[in-house]
Amino acid sequence: MVYNIAIDGPAGAGKSTIAKRVAKELSFIYVDTGAMYRAMALYLLRQHADIADPSEIAAVCQNADISIEYHDGEQIVLLNGENVNAFLRTEEVGNMASVSSPNPRVREKLLNLQRDLAARQSVVMDGRDIGTTILPHADVKIYLTASSATRARRRLRELEEKGIPCSLQEIQRDIEERDMRDMNREISPLRQAEDAVLIDSSQMGIEEVVKAILQVYHAKVVE
Ligand code: DC
Repeated sequence: MVYNIAIDGPAGAGKSTIAKRVAKELSFIYVDTGAMYRAMALYLLRQHADIADPSEIAAVCQNADISIEYHDGEQIVLLNGENVNAFLRTEEVGNMASVSSPNPRVREKLLNLQRDLAARQSVVMDGRDIGTTILPHADVKIYLTASSATRARRRLRELEEKGIPCSLQEIQRDIEERDMRDMNREISPLRQAEDAVLIDSSQMGIEEVVKAILQVYHAKVVE
């Protein structure tokens, strides 16, 4: 039996940390769809595609072949055969992903890959449109959010731990701009699916959120 858990929410809500933990608890595969959009963004940056020109983005993205492998449970994103994991987490790639992901051709290229992964095995998949578009019949749907101030503080801590100096105001502004783009785009905007359970993690720790999701899963699936 294959089970699918969809976790959607805005940037910095802790989706990947939480989804990874839930997947580990249930021995499911964790699928990070943001990493696929980031790999596409990396390709567009490398090709110097003009962000302001959707038809150029649509044309250039056709030459990017993105696939996924798992090594010791870790998701490896292959861009035209190259493992690009090490290049995906920069602000530059994140911003390009946010700007290029509304493009219908970009989304079309990644949709089948995501659906195939979920059809073949039990997954915890995180992203923006998993519960609404990619896996509308997912067994469990979670909408994980937190205030933009909380998300900015968490991101600042992460960057500081990596020794990258940054201002809280700048990070919060960046997060709010990204929310605007993700929520207001025409195709697959970020929104809570009608049957998704809302979890606001502003006042919650990681383990508390993991426990809450496992409870939803057990209540819906196991009984
Ligand atoms: O979750 P993330 O920051 O790695 O995602 C990077 C960008 O990709 C984000 O700005 C929106 C986009 N994205 C998307 O449009 N749909 C998804 N399912 C996942 C990410």
